[in-house]
Amino acid sequence: MNLKAIIKNRKSSRWFLEKPVKEDEIIDILDYAKYAPSGVNMQPWIVEAVSKKTKEKIISQFLERFDSGDRGKMDYQYYPKEWVEPYKSRRVETGIGLYKCLKIDKNDKIEQAKQWRKNFEAFNAPMILFFFIDSSLDKGSYLDYGMFLQNILLLCTQKGLATCTQAALAQYPDIVKKELNIDDKLNLLCGISIGYEDKSAQANSFKTSRVETKEFVNFHD
Ligand SMILES: Cc1cc2nc3c(=O)[nH]c(=O)nc-3n(C[C@H](O)[C@H](O)[C@H](O)COP(=O)(O)O)c2cc1C
Repeated sequence: MNLKAIIKNRKSSRWFLEKPVKEDEIIDILDYAKYAPSGVNMQPWIVEAVSKKTKEKIISQFLERFDSGDRGKMDYQYYPKEWVEPYKSRRVETGIGLYKCLKIDKNDKIEQAKQWRKNFEAFNAPMILFFFIDSSLDKGSYLDYGMFLQNILLLCTQKGLATCTQAALAQYPDIVKKELNIDDKLNLLCGISIGYEDKSAQANSFKTSRVETKEFVNFHD
């Protein structure tokens, strides 16, 4: 696959097969992802790769919390506090699109919550990468981090590995930090679930759209 095909083929998968991901594959991906640029080459990324028993321990605690009604608190503000246009509509369109694909009624809050809960099982992925950043670092480093994350997603796509980047996996940072023995001075940014896509899962047929390029670019001669 050339770069353009890899970029277009990447998508968020929301159900994975049991098939494990080899540690060597993750090392190989990170060996290349780390060539992402960062301000003064700070390389702000700290990655914790979690599978098997450790993953199960974390997930069971996530689900326990979620089922108790606790919605947690991320280490930083990811989504806007107030949704304004056009982001509000795009958010709604994405949510409704996924539910429509799953034949969940837009007013069926119970089925919607069941689908959202799957986030906390990492959609059955055999491997989760948790991403941390030193809390002393500022917005610029978050910008750098995004470039590193996209490299990971593209490298996974090239290898035939499916991914879902999830802010939801950072909703209970205390659970992850305690289980992995992580210093509290680190902020948990998000997780990426990685594995092999279950192509028979209805959720994986969902494909998002993008606005026309001319709608977000202006040329000034
Ligand atoms: C930082 C980040 C956090 C995300 N968090 C979640 C999440 O918690 N749950 C989820 O199902 N999708 C999550 N997504 C996936 C987005 O919904 C998805 O990228 C977007 O709808 C575009 O679809 P695509 O990735 O298939 O192109 C997240 C994506 C990013 C980049």
